Amino acid sequence: MEGDKGTVCVTGGTGFVASWLIKNLLQEGYAVRTTVRVDPENKRDLSFLNSLPGAAEKLKIMSADLSDPESYNAAIEGCKGVFHVATPVDFENKESEAVTERSISGALGILKACLKSKTVKRVVYTSSASTVMFNGQGVEVVDENFWTDVDFVRENLSPFMHSYMISKTLTERAALEFGTQHGLDVVTVIPSLVVGPFICPKFPGSVRSSLALVLGTSLLVLPSLYRLFNLLQRFQLQQ
Ligand SMILES: NC(=O)c1ccc[n+]([C@@H]2O[C@H](COP(=O)([O-])OP(=O)(O)OC[C@H]3O[C@@H](n4cnc5c(N)ncnc54)[C@H](OP(=O)(O)O)[C@@H]3O)[C@@H](O)[C@H]2O)c1
Repeated sequence: MEGDKGTVCVTGGTGFVASWLIKNLLQEGYAVRTTVRVDPENKRDLSFLNSLPGAAEKLKIMSADLSDPESYNAAIEGCKGVFHVATPVDFENKESEAVTERSISGALGILKACLKSKTVKRVVYTSSASTVMFNGQGVEVVDENFWTDVDFVRENLSPFMHSYMISKTLTERAALEFGTQHGLDVVTVIPSLVVGPFICPKFPGSVRSSLALVLGTSLLVLPSLYRLFNLLQRFQLQQ
């Protein structure tokens, strides 16, 4: 299984963003290995991945879990690039520290596997705008020097989404630090709210969140309202 352009690994293939990424990578001529969580009872329907154009020849689905950082070794061995997209999500803040620990140790396990492979040239970590937005400085334009202040988040913002903001911030920091320390090319992308059509069977949280703004159907309306409030503030500042 070798694509025209070589093999890349995408973590969390069942997710909204990862499934689009896999589709596009296959179309571009890459062979793709994607990881999904172990499914002992084999109940999970992965036909949406297996039926993608080119999947029969170039897609391999493998098991791995962020709670077992070494489980990514096999999927990464021999790859030229890795997209680390999977993330543990806990919007109800039920197990914040455990989620952060799982996210960081999982990401570091993936980066160690990349180093060990000696073939991975670049790792792309899907971070989040929540890693730069929340620092109490009220700045409208941010760059690489801006970080969410996790103490500010704990002390000043509602517990809702704490876990996600903190785990994404500390994981991105740890990943970049690992890259610098070990000479591994790690880049991070920081999407805000990703919306649009989806090819995965699960209704994506971010699409639900954006629709909640219109329908008022979910607590996830809160982050959307926060963004709307920011936009209104920016509009008023420009008047
Ligand atoms: N969508 C957005 O608006 C948005 C915005 C900013 C940043 N991002 C970032 O973009 C990435 C993808 O987001 P998404 O919206 O596509 O998320 P998603 O649809 O919720 O997908 C998350 C993926 O992570 C996997 N996962 C969860 N816990 C795991 C664990 N312990 N071990 C291994 N895999 C695990 C999930 O697997 P299961 O299917 O088994 O649960 C799923 O495949 C994430 O890193 C997210 O933080 C997204």
